[in-house]
Amino acid sequence: MSRIVYVNGRYLPWAEAGVHAEDRGFQFGDAIYEVCEVRDGHLIDEIRHMQRLERSLGELRIRAPMSQSALARVLRETIRRNRVRDGSVYLQVSRGARPREFLFSDAEHMEPTLVCIARTQSRAKSDAAAAAGIAVRSMPDIRWARCDIKTVMLLPASLAKESAKEIGAKEAWLIDEHGFVTEGASSNAWIIDQSGCLITRQISNDLLRGVTRTTLIDLIKRVGLELVERPFTIAEAKAAREAFTTSATAIVMPVVKIDDTPIGNGAPGIATSQLRSEFHSVAERARR
Ligand code: PDD
Repeated sequence: MSRIVYVNGRYLPWAEAGVHAEDRGFQFGDAIYEVCEVRDGHLIDEIRHMQRLERSLGELRIRAPMSQSALARVLRETIRRNRVRDGSVYLQVSRGARPREFLFSDAEHMEPTLVCIARTQSRAKSDAAAAAGIAVRSMPDIRWARCDIKTVMLLPASLAKESAKEIGAKEAWLIDEHGFVTEGASSNAWIIDQSGCLITRQISNDLLRGVTRTTLIDLIKRVGLELVERPFTIAEAKAAREAFTTSATAIVMPVVKIDDTPIGNGAPGIATSQLRSEFHSVAERARR
């Protein structure tokens, strides 16, 4: 089956789905995005993802490309045309195209560029990865000072993941100048200490407020586990009982090794696996 991509009002075959050469997303990284899980054909946590999209647009003063309800229709139609049952849907909004120019406030009428891509991802494969757990590699966080905005400026994340791959790790954990973990290259970072307390860094401009993170906090509160939102060091993480990452694509993913150090007994932790299996009982499941 050929893949269909939504671009500015049209559903196009993948090979024909292009945007303008002078799109500001392409020239300046002047674009924001969202990735939402699709499970059994339903969008997961759509409301929170759309709220974050709106916030990212607002922070960068990018005009909304259409109403929330029209956007919801584009998401569903892209999922439908690609027959995605389990996978993800990607939405990107750039400020639009114009002859290259750093300033943008003089071009209020620029039409934002909207792209939507849906992709099937095997749930069995993701569950198998979670059953084995992943390794992560720590490295300096070289990103900018507004990591709370979900922009497409992902080169530091991409480089970090490539260097993680060199040692067989699936994710990079980024360390700030004070030696604390900010987050993963494309996920939030969590540990569970020896007393069973969950620890994840508090929200600030240094990290993305993950939707999966927020929903997992709902679950943690519901089951009555202890949670502290504060920075932790990589040494603390290596001495933790359990560790994991959260993201819309990996949900709750156990971390079994950080650099050369196995976490706990080197297998996915019990609490982490329970949180993963219960996650969808609290996440919002949208109507199709
Ligand atoms: N990444 N932190 C960063 C830097 C991220 O890129 C992501 C998500 C997260 C987790 O956010 P959420 O739980 O809302 O997915 C945290 C997506 C999945 C990506 O870029 O593919």
